[in-house]
Amino acid sequence: MDLSASNSTHSFSNMEDFFSISAKTTSIPKEYIWPKKDLVLADQELQEPVVDLQGFLRGDWEATRHAARLVRAACLKHGFFQVINHGVDSHLIRMAHHQAKAFFKLPFSEKRKGQQQLGSKWGFSVAHAHRFSTKLPWKEMLTFGFPHEGSNAVVVDFFESFFGEGFEETGLVFQRYCEAVKKLSLAIMEILGISLGIDQYYFREYFEDGNAIVRANFYPTCPEPGLTLGIGPHSDPTSVTILHQDEVGGLEVFVDNKWRSIRPRHDAFVINLGDTFMALTNGMYKSCLHRAVVKKHQERISLTYFLCPREDKMIKPPQDLISSIEDEPRKYPDFTWFDFLRYTSEHYRADETTLQNFTKWFTSFNP
Ligand code: OGA
Ligand code: NI
Repeated sequence: MDLSASNSTHSFSNMEDFFSISAKTTSIPKEYIWPKKDLVLADQELQEPVVDLQGFLRGDWEATRHAARLVRAACLKHGFFQVINHGVDSHLIRMAHHQAKAFFKLPFSEKRKGQQQLGSKWGFSVAHAHRFSTKLPWKEMLTFGFPHEGSNAVVVDFFESFFGEGFEETGLVFQRYCEAVKKLSLAIMEILGISLGIDQYYFREYFEDGNAIVRANFYPTCPEPGLTLGIGPHSDPTSVTILHQDEVGGLEVFVDNKWRSIRPRHDAFVINLGDTFMALTNGMYKSCLHRAVVKKHQERISLTYFLCPREDKMIKPPQDLISSIEDEPRKYPDFTWFDFLRYTSEHYRADETTLQNFTKWFTSFNP
């Protein structure tokens, strides 16, 4: 297999040990090389707010208002903040990371048993190579669904049916992790509601019967970290993303026309708004443009929980918010998460203008 960057004949039909082979070479296949404009380095850290949720979780109204003010300022500007004292047990977070790492360290033949099939969102995948052939992300992923109203064994069932009976423990840990992050996601929905000056429970109730797409990302070491990206510039099409990253670092956010890195905090979850939440606020809150870089000598793991509405739910701003921004015309059509998910999984690769392009595409069919 030729792995040279300039003249690659690399084929994705045989990914066995691809990353371990490439780690020994000095170059990377051209499918992984990104345009220079996407590779501009971050030169500063983002001074994003760190929001302490302890007061809110205890029912302290003053502390809650303070948290909501910080969230509002961050969401009006870039849609990115971190939370601490979030109520998710730190031991459980460590166990989830441990399980993710153990999974990615399995031989490729084991991981491939649960490989993502064309047309499915779930399973193990390398670099989305089954969908795309250029600007590939330097990563492996494990993705599963977590319906908020599903059975209390959905995650265990996923692991056992995709990878075999030996995966019960992994499934149990991720099941508990998802239950805990779901609670946090609904708490964040309350704070977002307060921050927008609407009914505190509006978004909580809106997402209570929703779903999450849950993904563990593994970014292997890379011989040419300056040529590729772990994930390219994009905003998440989903509503709100709750991410936990290990201590290595690599997540970056585009603010004030510059890439800024996010310093990892083991005690914090990173929260970023996605396109669906931007649409739910008529563009008032920003969907955050971000990417992840990779490293030459350090591999990295992140766990992402992408909160989504129930598929058939209409995505339109709440009446209270529309009334308070009367002069603003509606920026997006009414659409469902089903419509938007289909667009981003069948017609479009998420980038910085997904929602804009979806709006054009959707209104051409639904004038
Ligand atoms: C994503 C993402 C960043 C990271 O999965 O959508 O932006 O740090 N991940 O893993
Ligand atoms: Ni993302």
